[in-house]
Amino acid sequence: MKRIIEIKRVIEWFFQRITGVVLLIGLIVHFQTMHYSGAGQISYEAVFARLSNPYWIVFNIVFLLSVTYHGFNGLLGIMPEYVHSHKMQKVLEGVLIVVAVTVVSLGVYILTV
Ligand code: HEM
Ligand code: HEM
Repeated sequence: MKRIIEIKRVIEWFFQRITGVVLLIGLIVHFQTMHYSGAGQISYEAVFARLSNPYWIVFNIVFLLSVTYHGFNGLLGIMPEYVHSHKMQKVLEGVLIVVAVTVVSLGVYILTV
């Protein structure tokens, strides 16, 4: 059991860094697209055109999965430093996981309908 928890920690540590790198690249691309690619990049027509392009859809899904994993896994990691009650830790863990799954489901739904 102790070994399984250790392996889980290593995997989480590893993915926190992998998603950190994906975010670094993804945020540069996202920022460049939204702010430096000419006026109207966030108009209805421009967003509609990007969201009809399979490459952008895949990019946005990877970006969404990375930011959600990174943000929520990060929060799950630091939460015990601030919340000391074991019961409360379990409750917050559940809440964070439900919120993360909801955010990803909504995002993937928006990107794929
Ligand atoms: C340029 C993009 C980003 C990079 C390269 C990056 C990198 C990292 C790395 C390497 C860690 C692990 C730190 C450690 O274990 O000591 C980390 C932790 C964390 N990141 Fe990011 N991150 C990025 C963006 C974000 C964003 C956008 C969010 C929020 C949605 C976020 C939230 C967090 C949180 C909550 C932690 C946990 C803090 C901790 O362990 O002390 N990060 N990040
Ligand atoms: C002022 C800054 C920002 C603007 C104007 C903006 C604008 C947009 C727009 C218009 C889309 C729709 C997709 C597209 O048009 O290609 C989008 C999607 C997305 N943005 Fe941003 N964004 C900003 C900052 C950020 C930041 C800081 C993050 C992450 C930390 C982020 C994460 C995402 C994600 C994950 C998606 C895909 C979500 C989905 O469709 O489910 N954005 N953004």
